[in-house]
Amino acid sequence: MINLTSIGMEKGLLYETIITTKNPDNAPNAAPIGVTCKDTDEIVIHLHQGSHTVKNINNNETFIVNILNDPILFAQSTLGNPPSESFIQYQDNYAIKNSEAYFKAQITKRREIEREDQFGISKTTIINAHVNEIIKNQDCVTPLNRAIYGLMEALVYLTRINRVTGDTEKLYKLRIKEITRIINKVGGPDHKQAMKMILKEFNKKN
Ligand SMILES: Cc1cc2nc3c(=O)[nH]c(=O)nc-3n(C[C@H](O)[C@H](O)[C@H](O)COP(=O)(O)O)c2cc1C
Repeated sequence: MINLTSIGMEKGLLYETIITTKNPDNAPNAAPIGVTCKDTDEIVIHLHQGSHTVKNINNNETFIVNILNDPILFAQSTLGNPPSESFIQYQDNYAIKNSEAYFKAQITKRREIEREDQFGISKTTIINAHVNEIIKNQDCVTPLNRAIYGLMEALVYLTRINRVTGDTEKLYKLRIKEITRIINKVGGPDHKQAMKMILKEFNKKN
């Protein structure tokens, strides 16, 4: 049975993954993309206009989600593509060879929306997909979720806020605001509860 909890993905959380697709010339393409776990076998992704990934996904019914923790592969996939030896052929697509796990996602729904965020108005394609095969390369798989890193940063700022003034204090306040935004977007109930505790204490100190 397909179950995303077998690779540590919990309902409601957003994970940073690398999605692999096939370019029109059949070459592999990789890009970091946030994947929201909607259910044990369903995910949602939001794709901004202009990337190779959105074009490739619009031309295909499936894509591959790779779960990994490798800083170099994340950097290479953001700045361009990892070298070809980083990929393996997987069915009619590609996966990242050194992933902790990867799965095939079958698109079930697509819609395009225009939305306004902190960067202005942009077009976004929202894709729902059904997970229909999970390949685990190791027993313990740890998908990347940014909430815990945000919480650690917020805790560090909290322990230092009484010792800073002026521009540094302003900077800490801005960072706490941004971390709160990220945690509300990507985190689960425990992350959100912990952030509330931090905010309560942080606001007391000001
Ligand atoms: C951690 C991380 C998460 C990202 N998540 C998304 C996302 O959810 N949707 C998106 O459209 N772009 C996202 N991006 C930006 C794309 O990865 C980036 O634009 C990439 O260069 C696109 O590559 P491509 O043209 O090969 O598809 C993310 C980038 C990073 C570093």
